[in-house]
Amino acid sequence: MARKIVMTSGKGGVGKTTVCANLGINLAKLGFRVALFDADIGLNNLDVVMGIENQIVFDITDVAMGRCRARQALVQVKNLSSLYVMPSSHAYHKSNVLGEHIKNVLDRLDSSFDYILIDCPAGVEAGFHRAVYSANEALIVVTPHISSIRDADKVLGLLEEYNLSSKSLVINRMRGDMLLNGDLMTIENIVGALNIPLVGVIPDDDMIGSSCSVGGKLQSGESQRAFTLLSENIHNGSKKIFDCTYKYRGLMGYLKRNIKKRV
Ligand SMILES: Nc1ncnc2c1ncn2[C@@H]1O[C@H](COP(=O)(O)OP(=O)(O)O)[C@@H](O)[C@H]1O
Ligand SMILES: [Mg+2]
Repeated sequence: MARKIVMTSGKGGVGKTTVCANLGINLAKLGFRVALFDADIGLNNLDVVMGIENQIVFDITDVAMGRCRARQALVQVKNLSSLYVMPSSHAYHKSNVLGEHIKNVLDRLDSSFDYILIDCPAGVEAGFHRAVYSANEALIVVTPHISSIRDADKVLGLLEEYNLSSKSLVINRMRGDMLLNGDLMTIENIVGALNIPLVGVIPDDDMIGSSCSVGGKLQSGESQRAFTLLSENIHNGSKKIFDCTYKYRGLMGYLKRNIKKRV
């Protein structure tokens, strides 16, 4: 039976799709069978991030409406034989697909995968509930900014309605230099505010936005290490968290921080 984990946040643009894609790549590299399920219907971009947008024949709406089988809609990611994407849809009105439809599709895929990662839309309306409905676990993705933490707190309240076995925290776009300069909320404060276990810290990394996504090449060195630790943590609870501040410590680090502050 697959672990079904939804990436959610309330706030848009914090990195749900990025975390979903990179966690999927890393779990597939560890040898697991992984399906990435794009539940951001209407504003989907997981297909673009994964570089499979030109291979889509059927999408979730076709599956939900019985026009094809779930397996027919899945697109395998180049170079990663155990990683698949269930594409969402631009073309149909969102209300066509309900939480029950997604649950039916996931039930059909359940025995074929170890992990099904569900990419949730922003907001807390119907799309959020549709995405969360069939999950067993949730990863709450935040950035170290108060607006993101407040939205995540609201989401945690809404998740109480669901029977989730775990809710864990990923802090994305952390800046080690700003953290040491005291310009960002600390990791301890964020964890204290949301009061759920921390499973990953991902550094802010320019390469994430600019890199070509095809075939699991989404991450640069630093964020790759952080995503590897996150996937190990998800899989075996290793509790190792990436330290974004390491290169800004000591005299050289202090100089780097100050140069970064000025540019
Ligand atoms: N750790 C990161 N470092 C740099 N850019 C990031 C990082 N995480 C996400 N981004 C960028 O932020 C933008 C929003 O990310 P996305 O994953 O689409 O957010 P969401 O799915 O929550 O709306 C994208 O352009 C993405 O490339
Ligand atoms: Mg997204």
